[in-house]
Amino acid sequence: MAPSDFDIPRDRLPALLCAMPKAELHIHIEGSLEPELIFALAQRNGVSLPYANVEALRAAYAFTDLQSFLDIYYAGASVLLKEQDFFDLGVAYFKRAAADHVVHAELFFDPQTHTERGVPIGTVIEGLTRACEAAQRELGVSGALILCFLRHLSEEAAFATLEAALPYRGRFIGVGLDSSEKGNPPEKFARVFARCRELGLHLVAHAGEEGPPAYIWSALDVLHVERIDHGVACMGDPALVKRLVAERIPLTVCPLSNVKLCVYPTMGEHNLAALLDAGLCATVNSDDPAYFGGYINQNYLEAFAALPQLTARHAHQLAANSFEASFVDADTKARWNQELHKVFAAA
Ligand code: ADE
Ligand code: ZN
Repeated sequence: MAPSDFDIPRDRLPALLCAMPKAELHIHIEGSLEPELIFALAQRNGVSLPYANVEALRAAYAFTDLQSFLDIYYAGASVLLKEQDFFDLGVAYFKRAAADHVVHAELFFDPQTHTERGVPIGTVIEGLTRACEAAQRELGVSGALILCFLRHLSEEAAFATLEAALPYRGRFIGVGLDSSEKGNPPEKFARVFARCRELGLHLVAHAGEEGPPAYIWSALDVLHVERIDHGVACMGDPALVKRLVAERIPLTVCPLSNVKLCVYPTMGEHNLAALLDAGLCATVNSDDPAYFGGYINQNYLEAFAALPQLTARHAHQLAANSFEASFVDADTKARWNQELHKVFAAA
């Protein structure tokens, strides 16, 4: 596409951002649990909640940092008990994603949040697998699962989780690392990630969300991850940026999350435009959309509205990056890129 083809007026950008095909690579499926579904599942499963109603729960969504969010997020997930609950959760997400022209989503799930409440890991994986199958069949959206280890727990607990998941090895494509970042560096999980690497799993990790650039270095050098989740802190370390650019290591950036969790005071101060202009393979994602004020298109819309440096060329780059960074085959990526070009050519 010639540079002049990106000469699209700013007032046409919102429609283009919404219509362009895109992949979502950083979505915690438990973070798509809307308050209405929390209450419906609580009733269906006989779980009592410490909130009177949906409004009271939503009013509690005022976060000061990652930990203040995680406390509520883990409490919300306590209503998920049966395979049908995980299926319903996944289907609800895929319907929202399809409406946002997501063609492919790689879903994080946190088995330890459920197994510690006595929910078998197979219940979680079977329910989410069925949701992915339904999404492909009924919405034409492809889905894949990435099992995340909770980094506030021990490496031993991560090994036990991996062991329990191995009978379902064919149902997930990779592993990730999430939960409280500060004080839980990637090195803590060196041995379990080495084992996952031997098993041929894809590897990703949250790093540089609240933690320092050093955590991104160790995610790369110790864990050997293929993508960094968030990674916005990299801009504080020019040598790290150079490395990430040279190796085309993708960053799965989540703008609304970063503002809601006070990583940036306002969207206008977010570094998304700077990441792209530095040549990084940055992507836009929703993280925990039920908690942070919107799904993937809302992330694109609010970032582009607050950052006037972002143009149609950046929009195209972000969608192309999301395909490049996904764990699908080259032919599928080429097909999605053709669709993307068509949408831009018609704009
Ligand atoms: N789990 C769910 N959302 C998360 C985030 N933004 N960072 C770390 N762990 C998470
Ligand atoms: Zn995340």
